[in-house]
Amino acid sequence: MTMPTREDVALAYHELLRRAPEDESVLHAHAAAHADVEAMRASIAASPEAFALAERAAFEDSFAGTRRADGTKDLSSLDLRGLDRHFAILGEAMRSGVFNTGRAHYALCLAHGVRQAVHLGLDRIAALEIGVAQGAGLLNLIRAAGFFRREYGFAVDVWGMDNATGLPPLADHRDHPEIWHGGQFAMGEPEGLRARLPPWAHLLIGEAGELLAGFAARTAGVPLGFLSIDVDLHSSTTRVLPVLLGEAERYLPALPVYLDDVEILVSYNRWCGEAAAVEAHNALNPLRPVERKGVAWNIHNFHVCHVLDHPVRTGARRPRLPFEIGPF
Ligand SMILES: C[S@@+](CC[C@H](N)C(=O)[O-])C[C@H]1O[C@@H](n2cnc3c(N)ncnc32)[C@H](O)[C@@H]1O
Repeated sequence: MTMPTREDVALAYHELLRRAPEDESVLHAHAAAHADVEAMRASIAASPEAFALAERAAFEDSFAGTRRADGTKDLSSLDLRGLDRHFAILGEAMRSGVFNTGRAHYALCLAHGVRQAVHLGLDRIAALEIGVAQGAGLLNLIRAAGFFRREYGFAVDVWGMDNATGLPPLADHRDHPEIWHGGQFAMGEPEGLRARLPPWAHLLIGEAGELLAGFAARTAGVPLGFLSIDVDLHSSTTRVLPVLLGEAERYLPALPVYLDDVEILVSYNRWCGEAAAVEAHNALNPLRPVERKGVAWNIHNFHVCHVLDHPVRTGARRPRLPFEIGPF
């Protein structure tokens, strides 16, 4: 039997996910496709060097567009199917870790932001992490953003916000006092982290709810293409969710949002924490709901803020390419 190439498997996987109906068979399709990918990965993983080379080769082969004089791949030269093909392999490569794009969930959320921007004809987005602590997440986001800059000449500006003093005093049971306490995760002196940032990444220090007021002016003309909220507390999440209530064109129309503190601990629930803050936000803001995406997307804690008053979503403007963007 001939061994399928990595590209064959990734494309088959992508196709299955696209075609699977919205019922429990999506789970079976997902599991079956994943088993193939895992089997292939295991066979190559016997030699990490061969695995990395195969991954890089599949990635390069899957790009059928134009390369610029500086070698970067011009994503705007791909059509819908070309983007499907290339992002299927990109998703695989990001999950495998061989491209050193950091935390897979950050890299994949960002990849979804970049892909939407390409559909809109944009070549620059901003990515924001609210709640930075020692900077592990921010540095991972910078790694992923650097990948898009190097490979595609696609500009991702990275922003981080934190008070530097750790979690504020907890308000009530909705802040999960059984898990968190005031002062936890204090960053300390921010200059050490600042010194490690490239010129296109910025760290803003202050109470995040207050920092939001000036944020629109700082990112003027560059839509937000990825948002990570990692402030742990219900009270803090409630303070920062208005980041989603600016003028519609300040965001991608289906903005990828990562929420760190939902579901995975036993005492998390929809009446407390980030989940309750999001539910209240959704009730008050029907044109900016935040929705958790399901297992078919295979991205940890992946959410989308639907900017339903964005011109592309009201039908006032057509995107350069339609938003036929499925899981990758
Ligand atoms: C769990 S840590 C962030 C971890 C980081 N995202 C990572 O992945 O490495 C939570 C952070 O949120 C910050 N924070 C919580 N509420 C805040 C608020 N209202 N304003 C600013 N920062 C806040 C805390 O200072 C803390 O550093």
